[in-house]
Amino acid sequence: MTELKNKKALITGGSRGLGKATAIAFAKEGIDVAITGRNEEALKATVAELKKFGVNAIYASFDVSNYEEVQKNITSLIDSLGAIDILVNNAGIAAFGTLNDMEVAQWSQIIQTNVMGMYYVTKEVLPHLIAKNEGDIINVSSTAGLNGNASTSAYSASKFAVIGMSQSLMKEVRKNNIRVCTLTPSTIASDMSIELGIASKDSEDSVLQPEDFAELIISGLKLPRRAMMANASLWSTNP
Ligand SMILES: NC(=O)c1ccc[n+]([C@@H]2O[C@H](COP(=O)([O-])OP(=O)(O)OC[C@H]3O[C@@H](n4cnc5c(N)ncnc54)[C@H](OP(=O)(O)O)[C@@H]3O)[C@@H](O)[C@H]2O)c1
Repeated sequence: MTELKNKKALITGGSRGLGKATAIAFAKEGIDVAITGRNEEALKATVAELKKFGVNAIYASFDVSNYEEVQKNITSLIDSLGAIDILVNNAGIAAFGTLNDMEVAQWSQIIQTNVMGMYYVTKEVLPHLIAKNEGDIINVSSTAGLNGNASTSAYSASKFAVIGMSQSLMKEVRKNNIRVCTLTPSTIASDMSIELGIASKDSEDSVLQPEDFAELIISGLKLPRRAMMANASLWSTNP
């Protein structure tokens, strides 16, 4: 098994939802964590929770869809962590609406955040992993990245793109001992799914929870380095 203690991880969108659950699971394993998001108060609160596990926890507040902000903040986070072993590309937004009804600006913002944001962050982190000849990148797509549905054109386009980018990267950097994992979870209870009206807070027994997603990531990372979880779907057992 791969030992995770003392590794250094960066989780985008780590202030709440799936990213926060992953950050907590990492901290429990003894991994130092840098989290990002736009809302500084939420980031500060999550960092305080992470520090209770005795790890180094830091944050930076910036918009992943702005390349200049990504460059500046990722460099300073990696400097503060001292190294980087694991990147979880989790930050994302969603909105539903027919192709005709959704405003051009909103459609573009979904692509800019979910696709370009992931590309920008990866571009800044990757040279560090290549230089170490070791690393893990976990890219969060969705079941909406496997199938389009009425009213999900923007979100599905973004999450299909994530799968294509992630699979290409996996093939590019396997030779560098970098494992790239593409995740396609189904609905998980979070602000996003509750705001979209596809999950509710009081259905814990049937709806996936952020902790379930975090467990999947931990089990993939713990595989011996010769083995790689290239793709994984997480479904609710009995929706
Ligand atoms: N929940 C589900 O059912 C589900 C299922 C499949 C896949 N996913 C994917 O899982 C990921 C996490 O989703 P979630 O449910 O945890 O969503 P969430 O509760 O809405 O959290 C999203 C996180 O991303 C950050 N974020 C959003 N836009 C950002 C931007 N432009 N720049 C920087 N940070 C940004 C948010 O922080 P700020 O708002 O402070 O920026 C927050 O930390 C997303 O990629 C989502 O598409 C979710």
